[in-house]
Amino acid sequence: MKLRRKSAVITGGAVGIGKAVAQLFSSEGCQVVIADVNEEKGAETQKEINQQGRNCLFIRCDVARADEVKNMVQKAISFCGSINILVNNAGIWRPGRVTDLTEETWDRVLDTNLKGIFLVSKEIIPLMQKEGEGSIINLASVAGLVGSRDGSAYNASKGGIVNLTRGMALDFAKDSIRVNCICPGLIDSAQGDMVVAHYAPGKDPRTAKASWQPIARAGIPQDVAEVALYFASDESSFATGSIFVIDGGLTAE
Ligand SMILES: NC(=O)c1ccc[n+]([C@@H]2O[C@H](COP(=O)([O-])OP(=O)(O)OC[C@H]3O[C@@H](n4cnc5c(N)ncnc54)[C@H](O)[C@@H]3O)[C@@H](O)[C@H]2O)c1
Repeated sequence: MKLRRKSAVITGGAVGIGKAVAQLFSSEGCQVVIADVNEEKGAETQKEINQQGRNCLFIRCDVARADEVKNMVQKAISFCGSINILVNNAGIWRPGRVTDLTEETWDRVLDTNLKGIFLVSKEIIPLMQKEGEGSIINLASVAGLVGSRDGSAYNASKGGIVNLTRGMALDFAKDSIRVNCICPGLIDSAQGDMVVAHYAPGKDPRTAKASWQPIARAGIPQDVAEVALYFASDESSFATGSIFVIDGGLTAE
């Protein structure tokens, strides 16, 4: 029970990587709040976790909307009492080079992936400061470290998350709030939407998945959840500002 008596807010936790994080954290004794726009899947995940005798609340929230974020954090506090862990995981991908992207699409990707982290962290950090500790885990991507074709808005948002992590780590180390970042490669998330939509457009995703990374398989959400558990737990008490790559060797070349 590495997270006994801890509480976590996990954005985008209805499916995929966020869901795996919610399941793993709750199995380690953590109360979890899932903040997501997908009401159907969010309610399903809440039910699944609670049926296992654990403690989960789903709250509908668009992380790009300041009013919804404020409301979500109030409800989370009523449920948990305090928040020790924040996993900024909600994210979207949209295709397009700079010359193809509409302003609306650019804004939606940046607002969800990057501004969402700003808005949620802005509400939760003061609560962690009162508690005297906290761990924030931001989900970036290898697309925040190296370029990827046809995904400029996503690249920009994920590169922003990597360096936002470093800035936040410096600002809040004195409050015992650690801020770390995970950069996954290709992960076969539950719905597979992100994978099928942009890593293998028009191709058999299984073929693409196998050939994409030196370790010849796609990652699974649990691979990423184990890294998040490390950063959430006291085992990583000396780690802040870290950028952890989990990509089957993709960016080693
Ligand atoms: N799957 C991959 O290969 C991969 C690789 C690198 C990084 N990532 C990152 O990991 C994170 C999770 O990816 P995933 O594969 O599980 O994605 P996914 O599409 O399976 O799940 C994303 C979740 O975020 C939610 N969401 C989207 N917009 C939201 C908003 N505005 N407010 C609240 N919730 C919102 C969705 O409803 C969904 O439940 C993302 O940040 C993604 O960019 C994924």
